[in-house]
Order: sequence, then C-alpha cells, then structure tokens
Amino acid sequence: MRILIVLFACGLVAAGVAIAFGTAPADVARPSPKLGRVQSTLCATCHGARGLSVASDIPNLAGQHYEYLMEQLIAFKRGTRQAGVMNEMVKSIPLTELRNIAAYYSSVKISVGSGRAKK
Ligand code: HEC
Repeated sequence: MRILIVLFACGLVAAGVAIAFGTAPADVARPSPKLGRVQSTLCATCHGARGLSVASDIPNLAGQHYEYLMEQLIAFKRGTRQAGVMNEMVKSIPLTELRNIAAYYSSVKISVGSGRAKK
C-alpha cells in the first residue's frame, strides 16, 4: 500500500513537471508585427519607414520572408555574416525584439516596382 502511495505521489510530481514544461512553449510570445513596427524605428533610418530603403546600397526589407530575415539577423548577431554596421546594430537587440521587427517587415505588403531607393 505504501508503495502505491509513493508511486501516486511520484505521478503527481511528474504531472506537475509536465504541466510546468508543457505550458512553456505557449508562454513564448508570438512575434508581434505591431510591436515590431515601433521597435524598428532605428532600422528605419537606413531601411526606410516601411522597409523600403533610403539608399541603393541598403537592402529593402519590406515584404521579405520572416524566416530569411531572422536567418540574417541571427547571422549578424553571431558574426557568421559580416556587414560592419549590421553586426553592431543587432548586437544589443534581444531576439524577441528582432522577431517582432522581422514579423513587421514581412507583413508589409509590396508590389513589384514599389522599391523607391534611387539615390
Ligand atoms: C546605418 C544603416 C543601417 C541601420 C540603422 C540598419 N541597417 Fe540593416 N543593413 C544595412 C546595410 C548597409 C545592409 C547590407 C549589409 C551587407 O552589405 O551585407 C543591411 C542589411 C540588413 C539585413 C539583410 C538584408 C538582406 O537582404 O540580406 C537585414 C535583415 C537588416 N539589415 C535588418 C536591420 C534591422 C532589423 C535594423 C534595425 C534593428 C537595421 N537593419 C538597421 C544598414 C543598416
């Protein structure tokens, strides 16, 4: 009988742990384009207000795929992609914020010919 009680107690603990860890992924906030729009203010000085860049040697980000943007931002952070200004830029920005920014740029609707950099 005592063994059954011990087993039952272990089961409760295990269930508690499962619940605690099971809910963790749901707690990770989904990237928010709305927040990203505000958080991308600094980026806008080069990449333009809606991700349409201000100069022809700066890439447009508007309408770019989320996964591609995140891959580049992580590569800039890790230094596996070298581009002086960008490596410095993302250094202190947390991943959660970069995800929001990437979600914002990828949410911008573009049509062919809407890139405006000609300077
Ligand atoms: C001072 C200007 C400047 C600022 C500010 C800036 N960038 Fe950039 N960004 C660049 C340049 C220039 C490149 C091209 C780098 C290269 O030559 O590889 C670039 C490249 C990128 C790329 C890769 C695009 C591609 O097509 O591969 C991403 C993504 C990006 N920037 C995101 C951001 C984000 C997010 C911010 C704000 C946190 C930001 N940038 C702020 C100048 C800037």
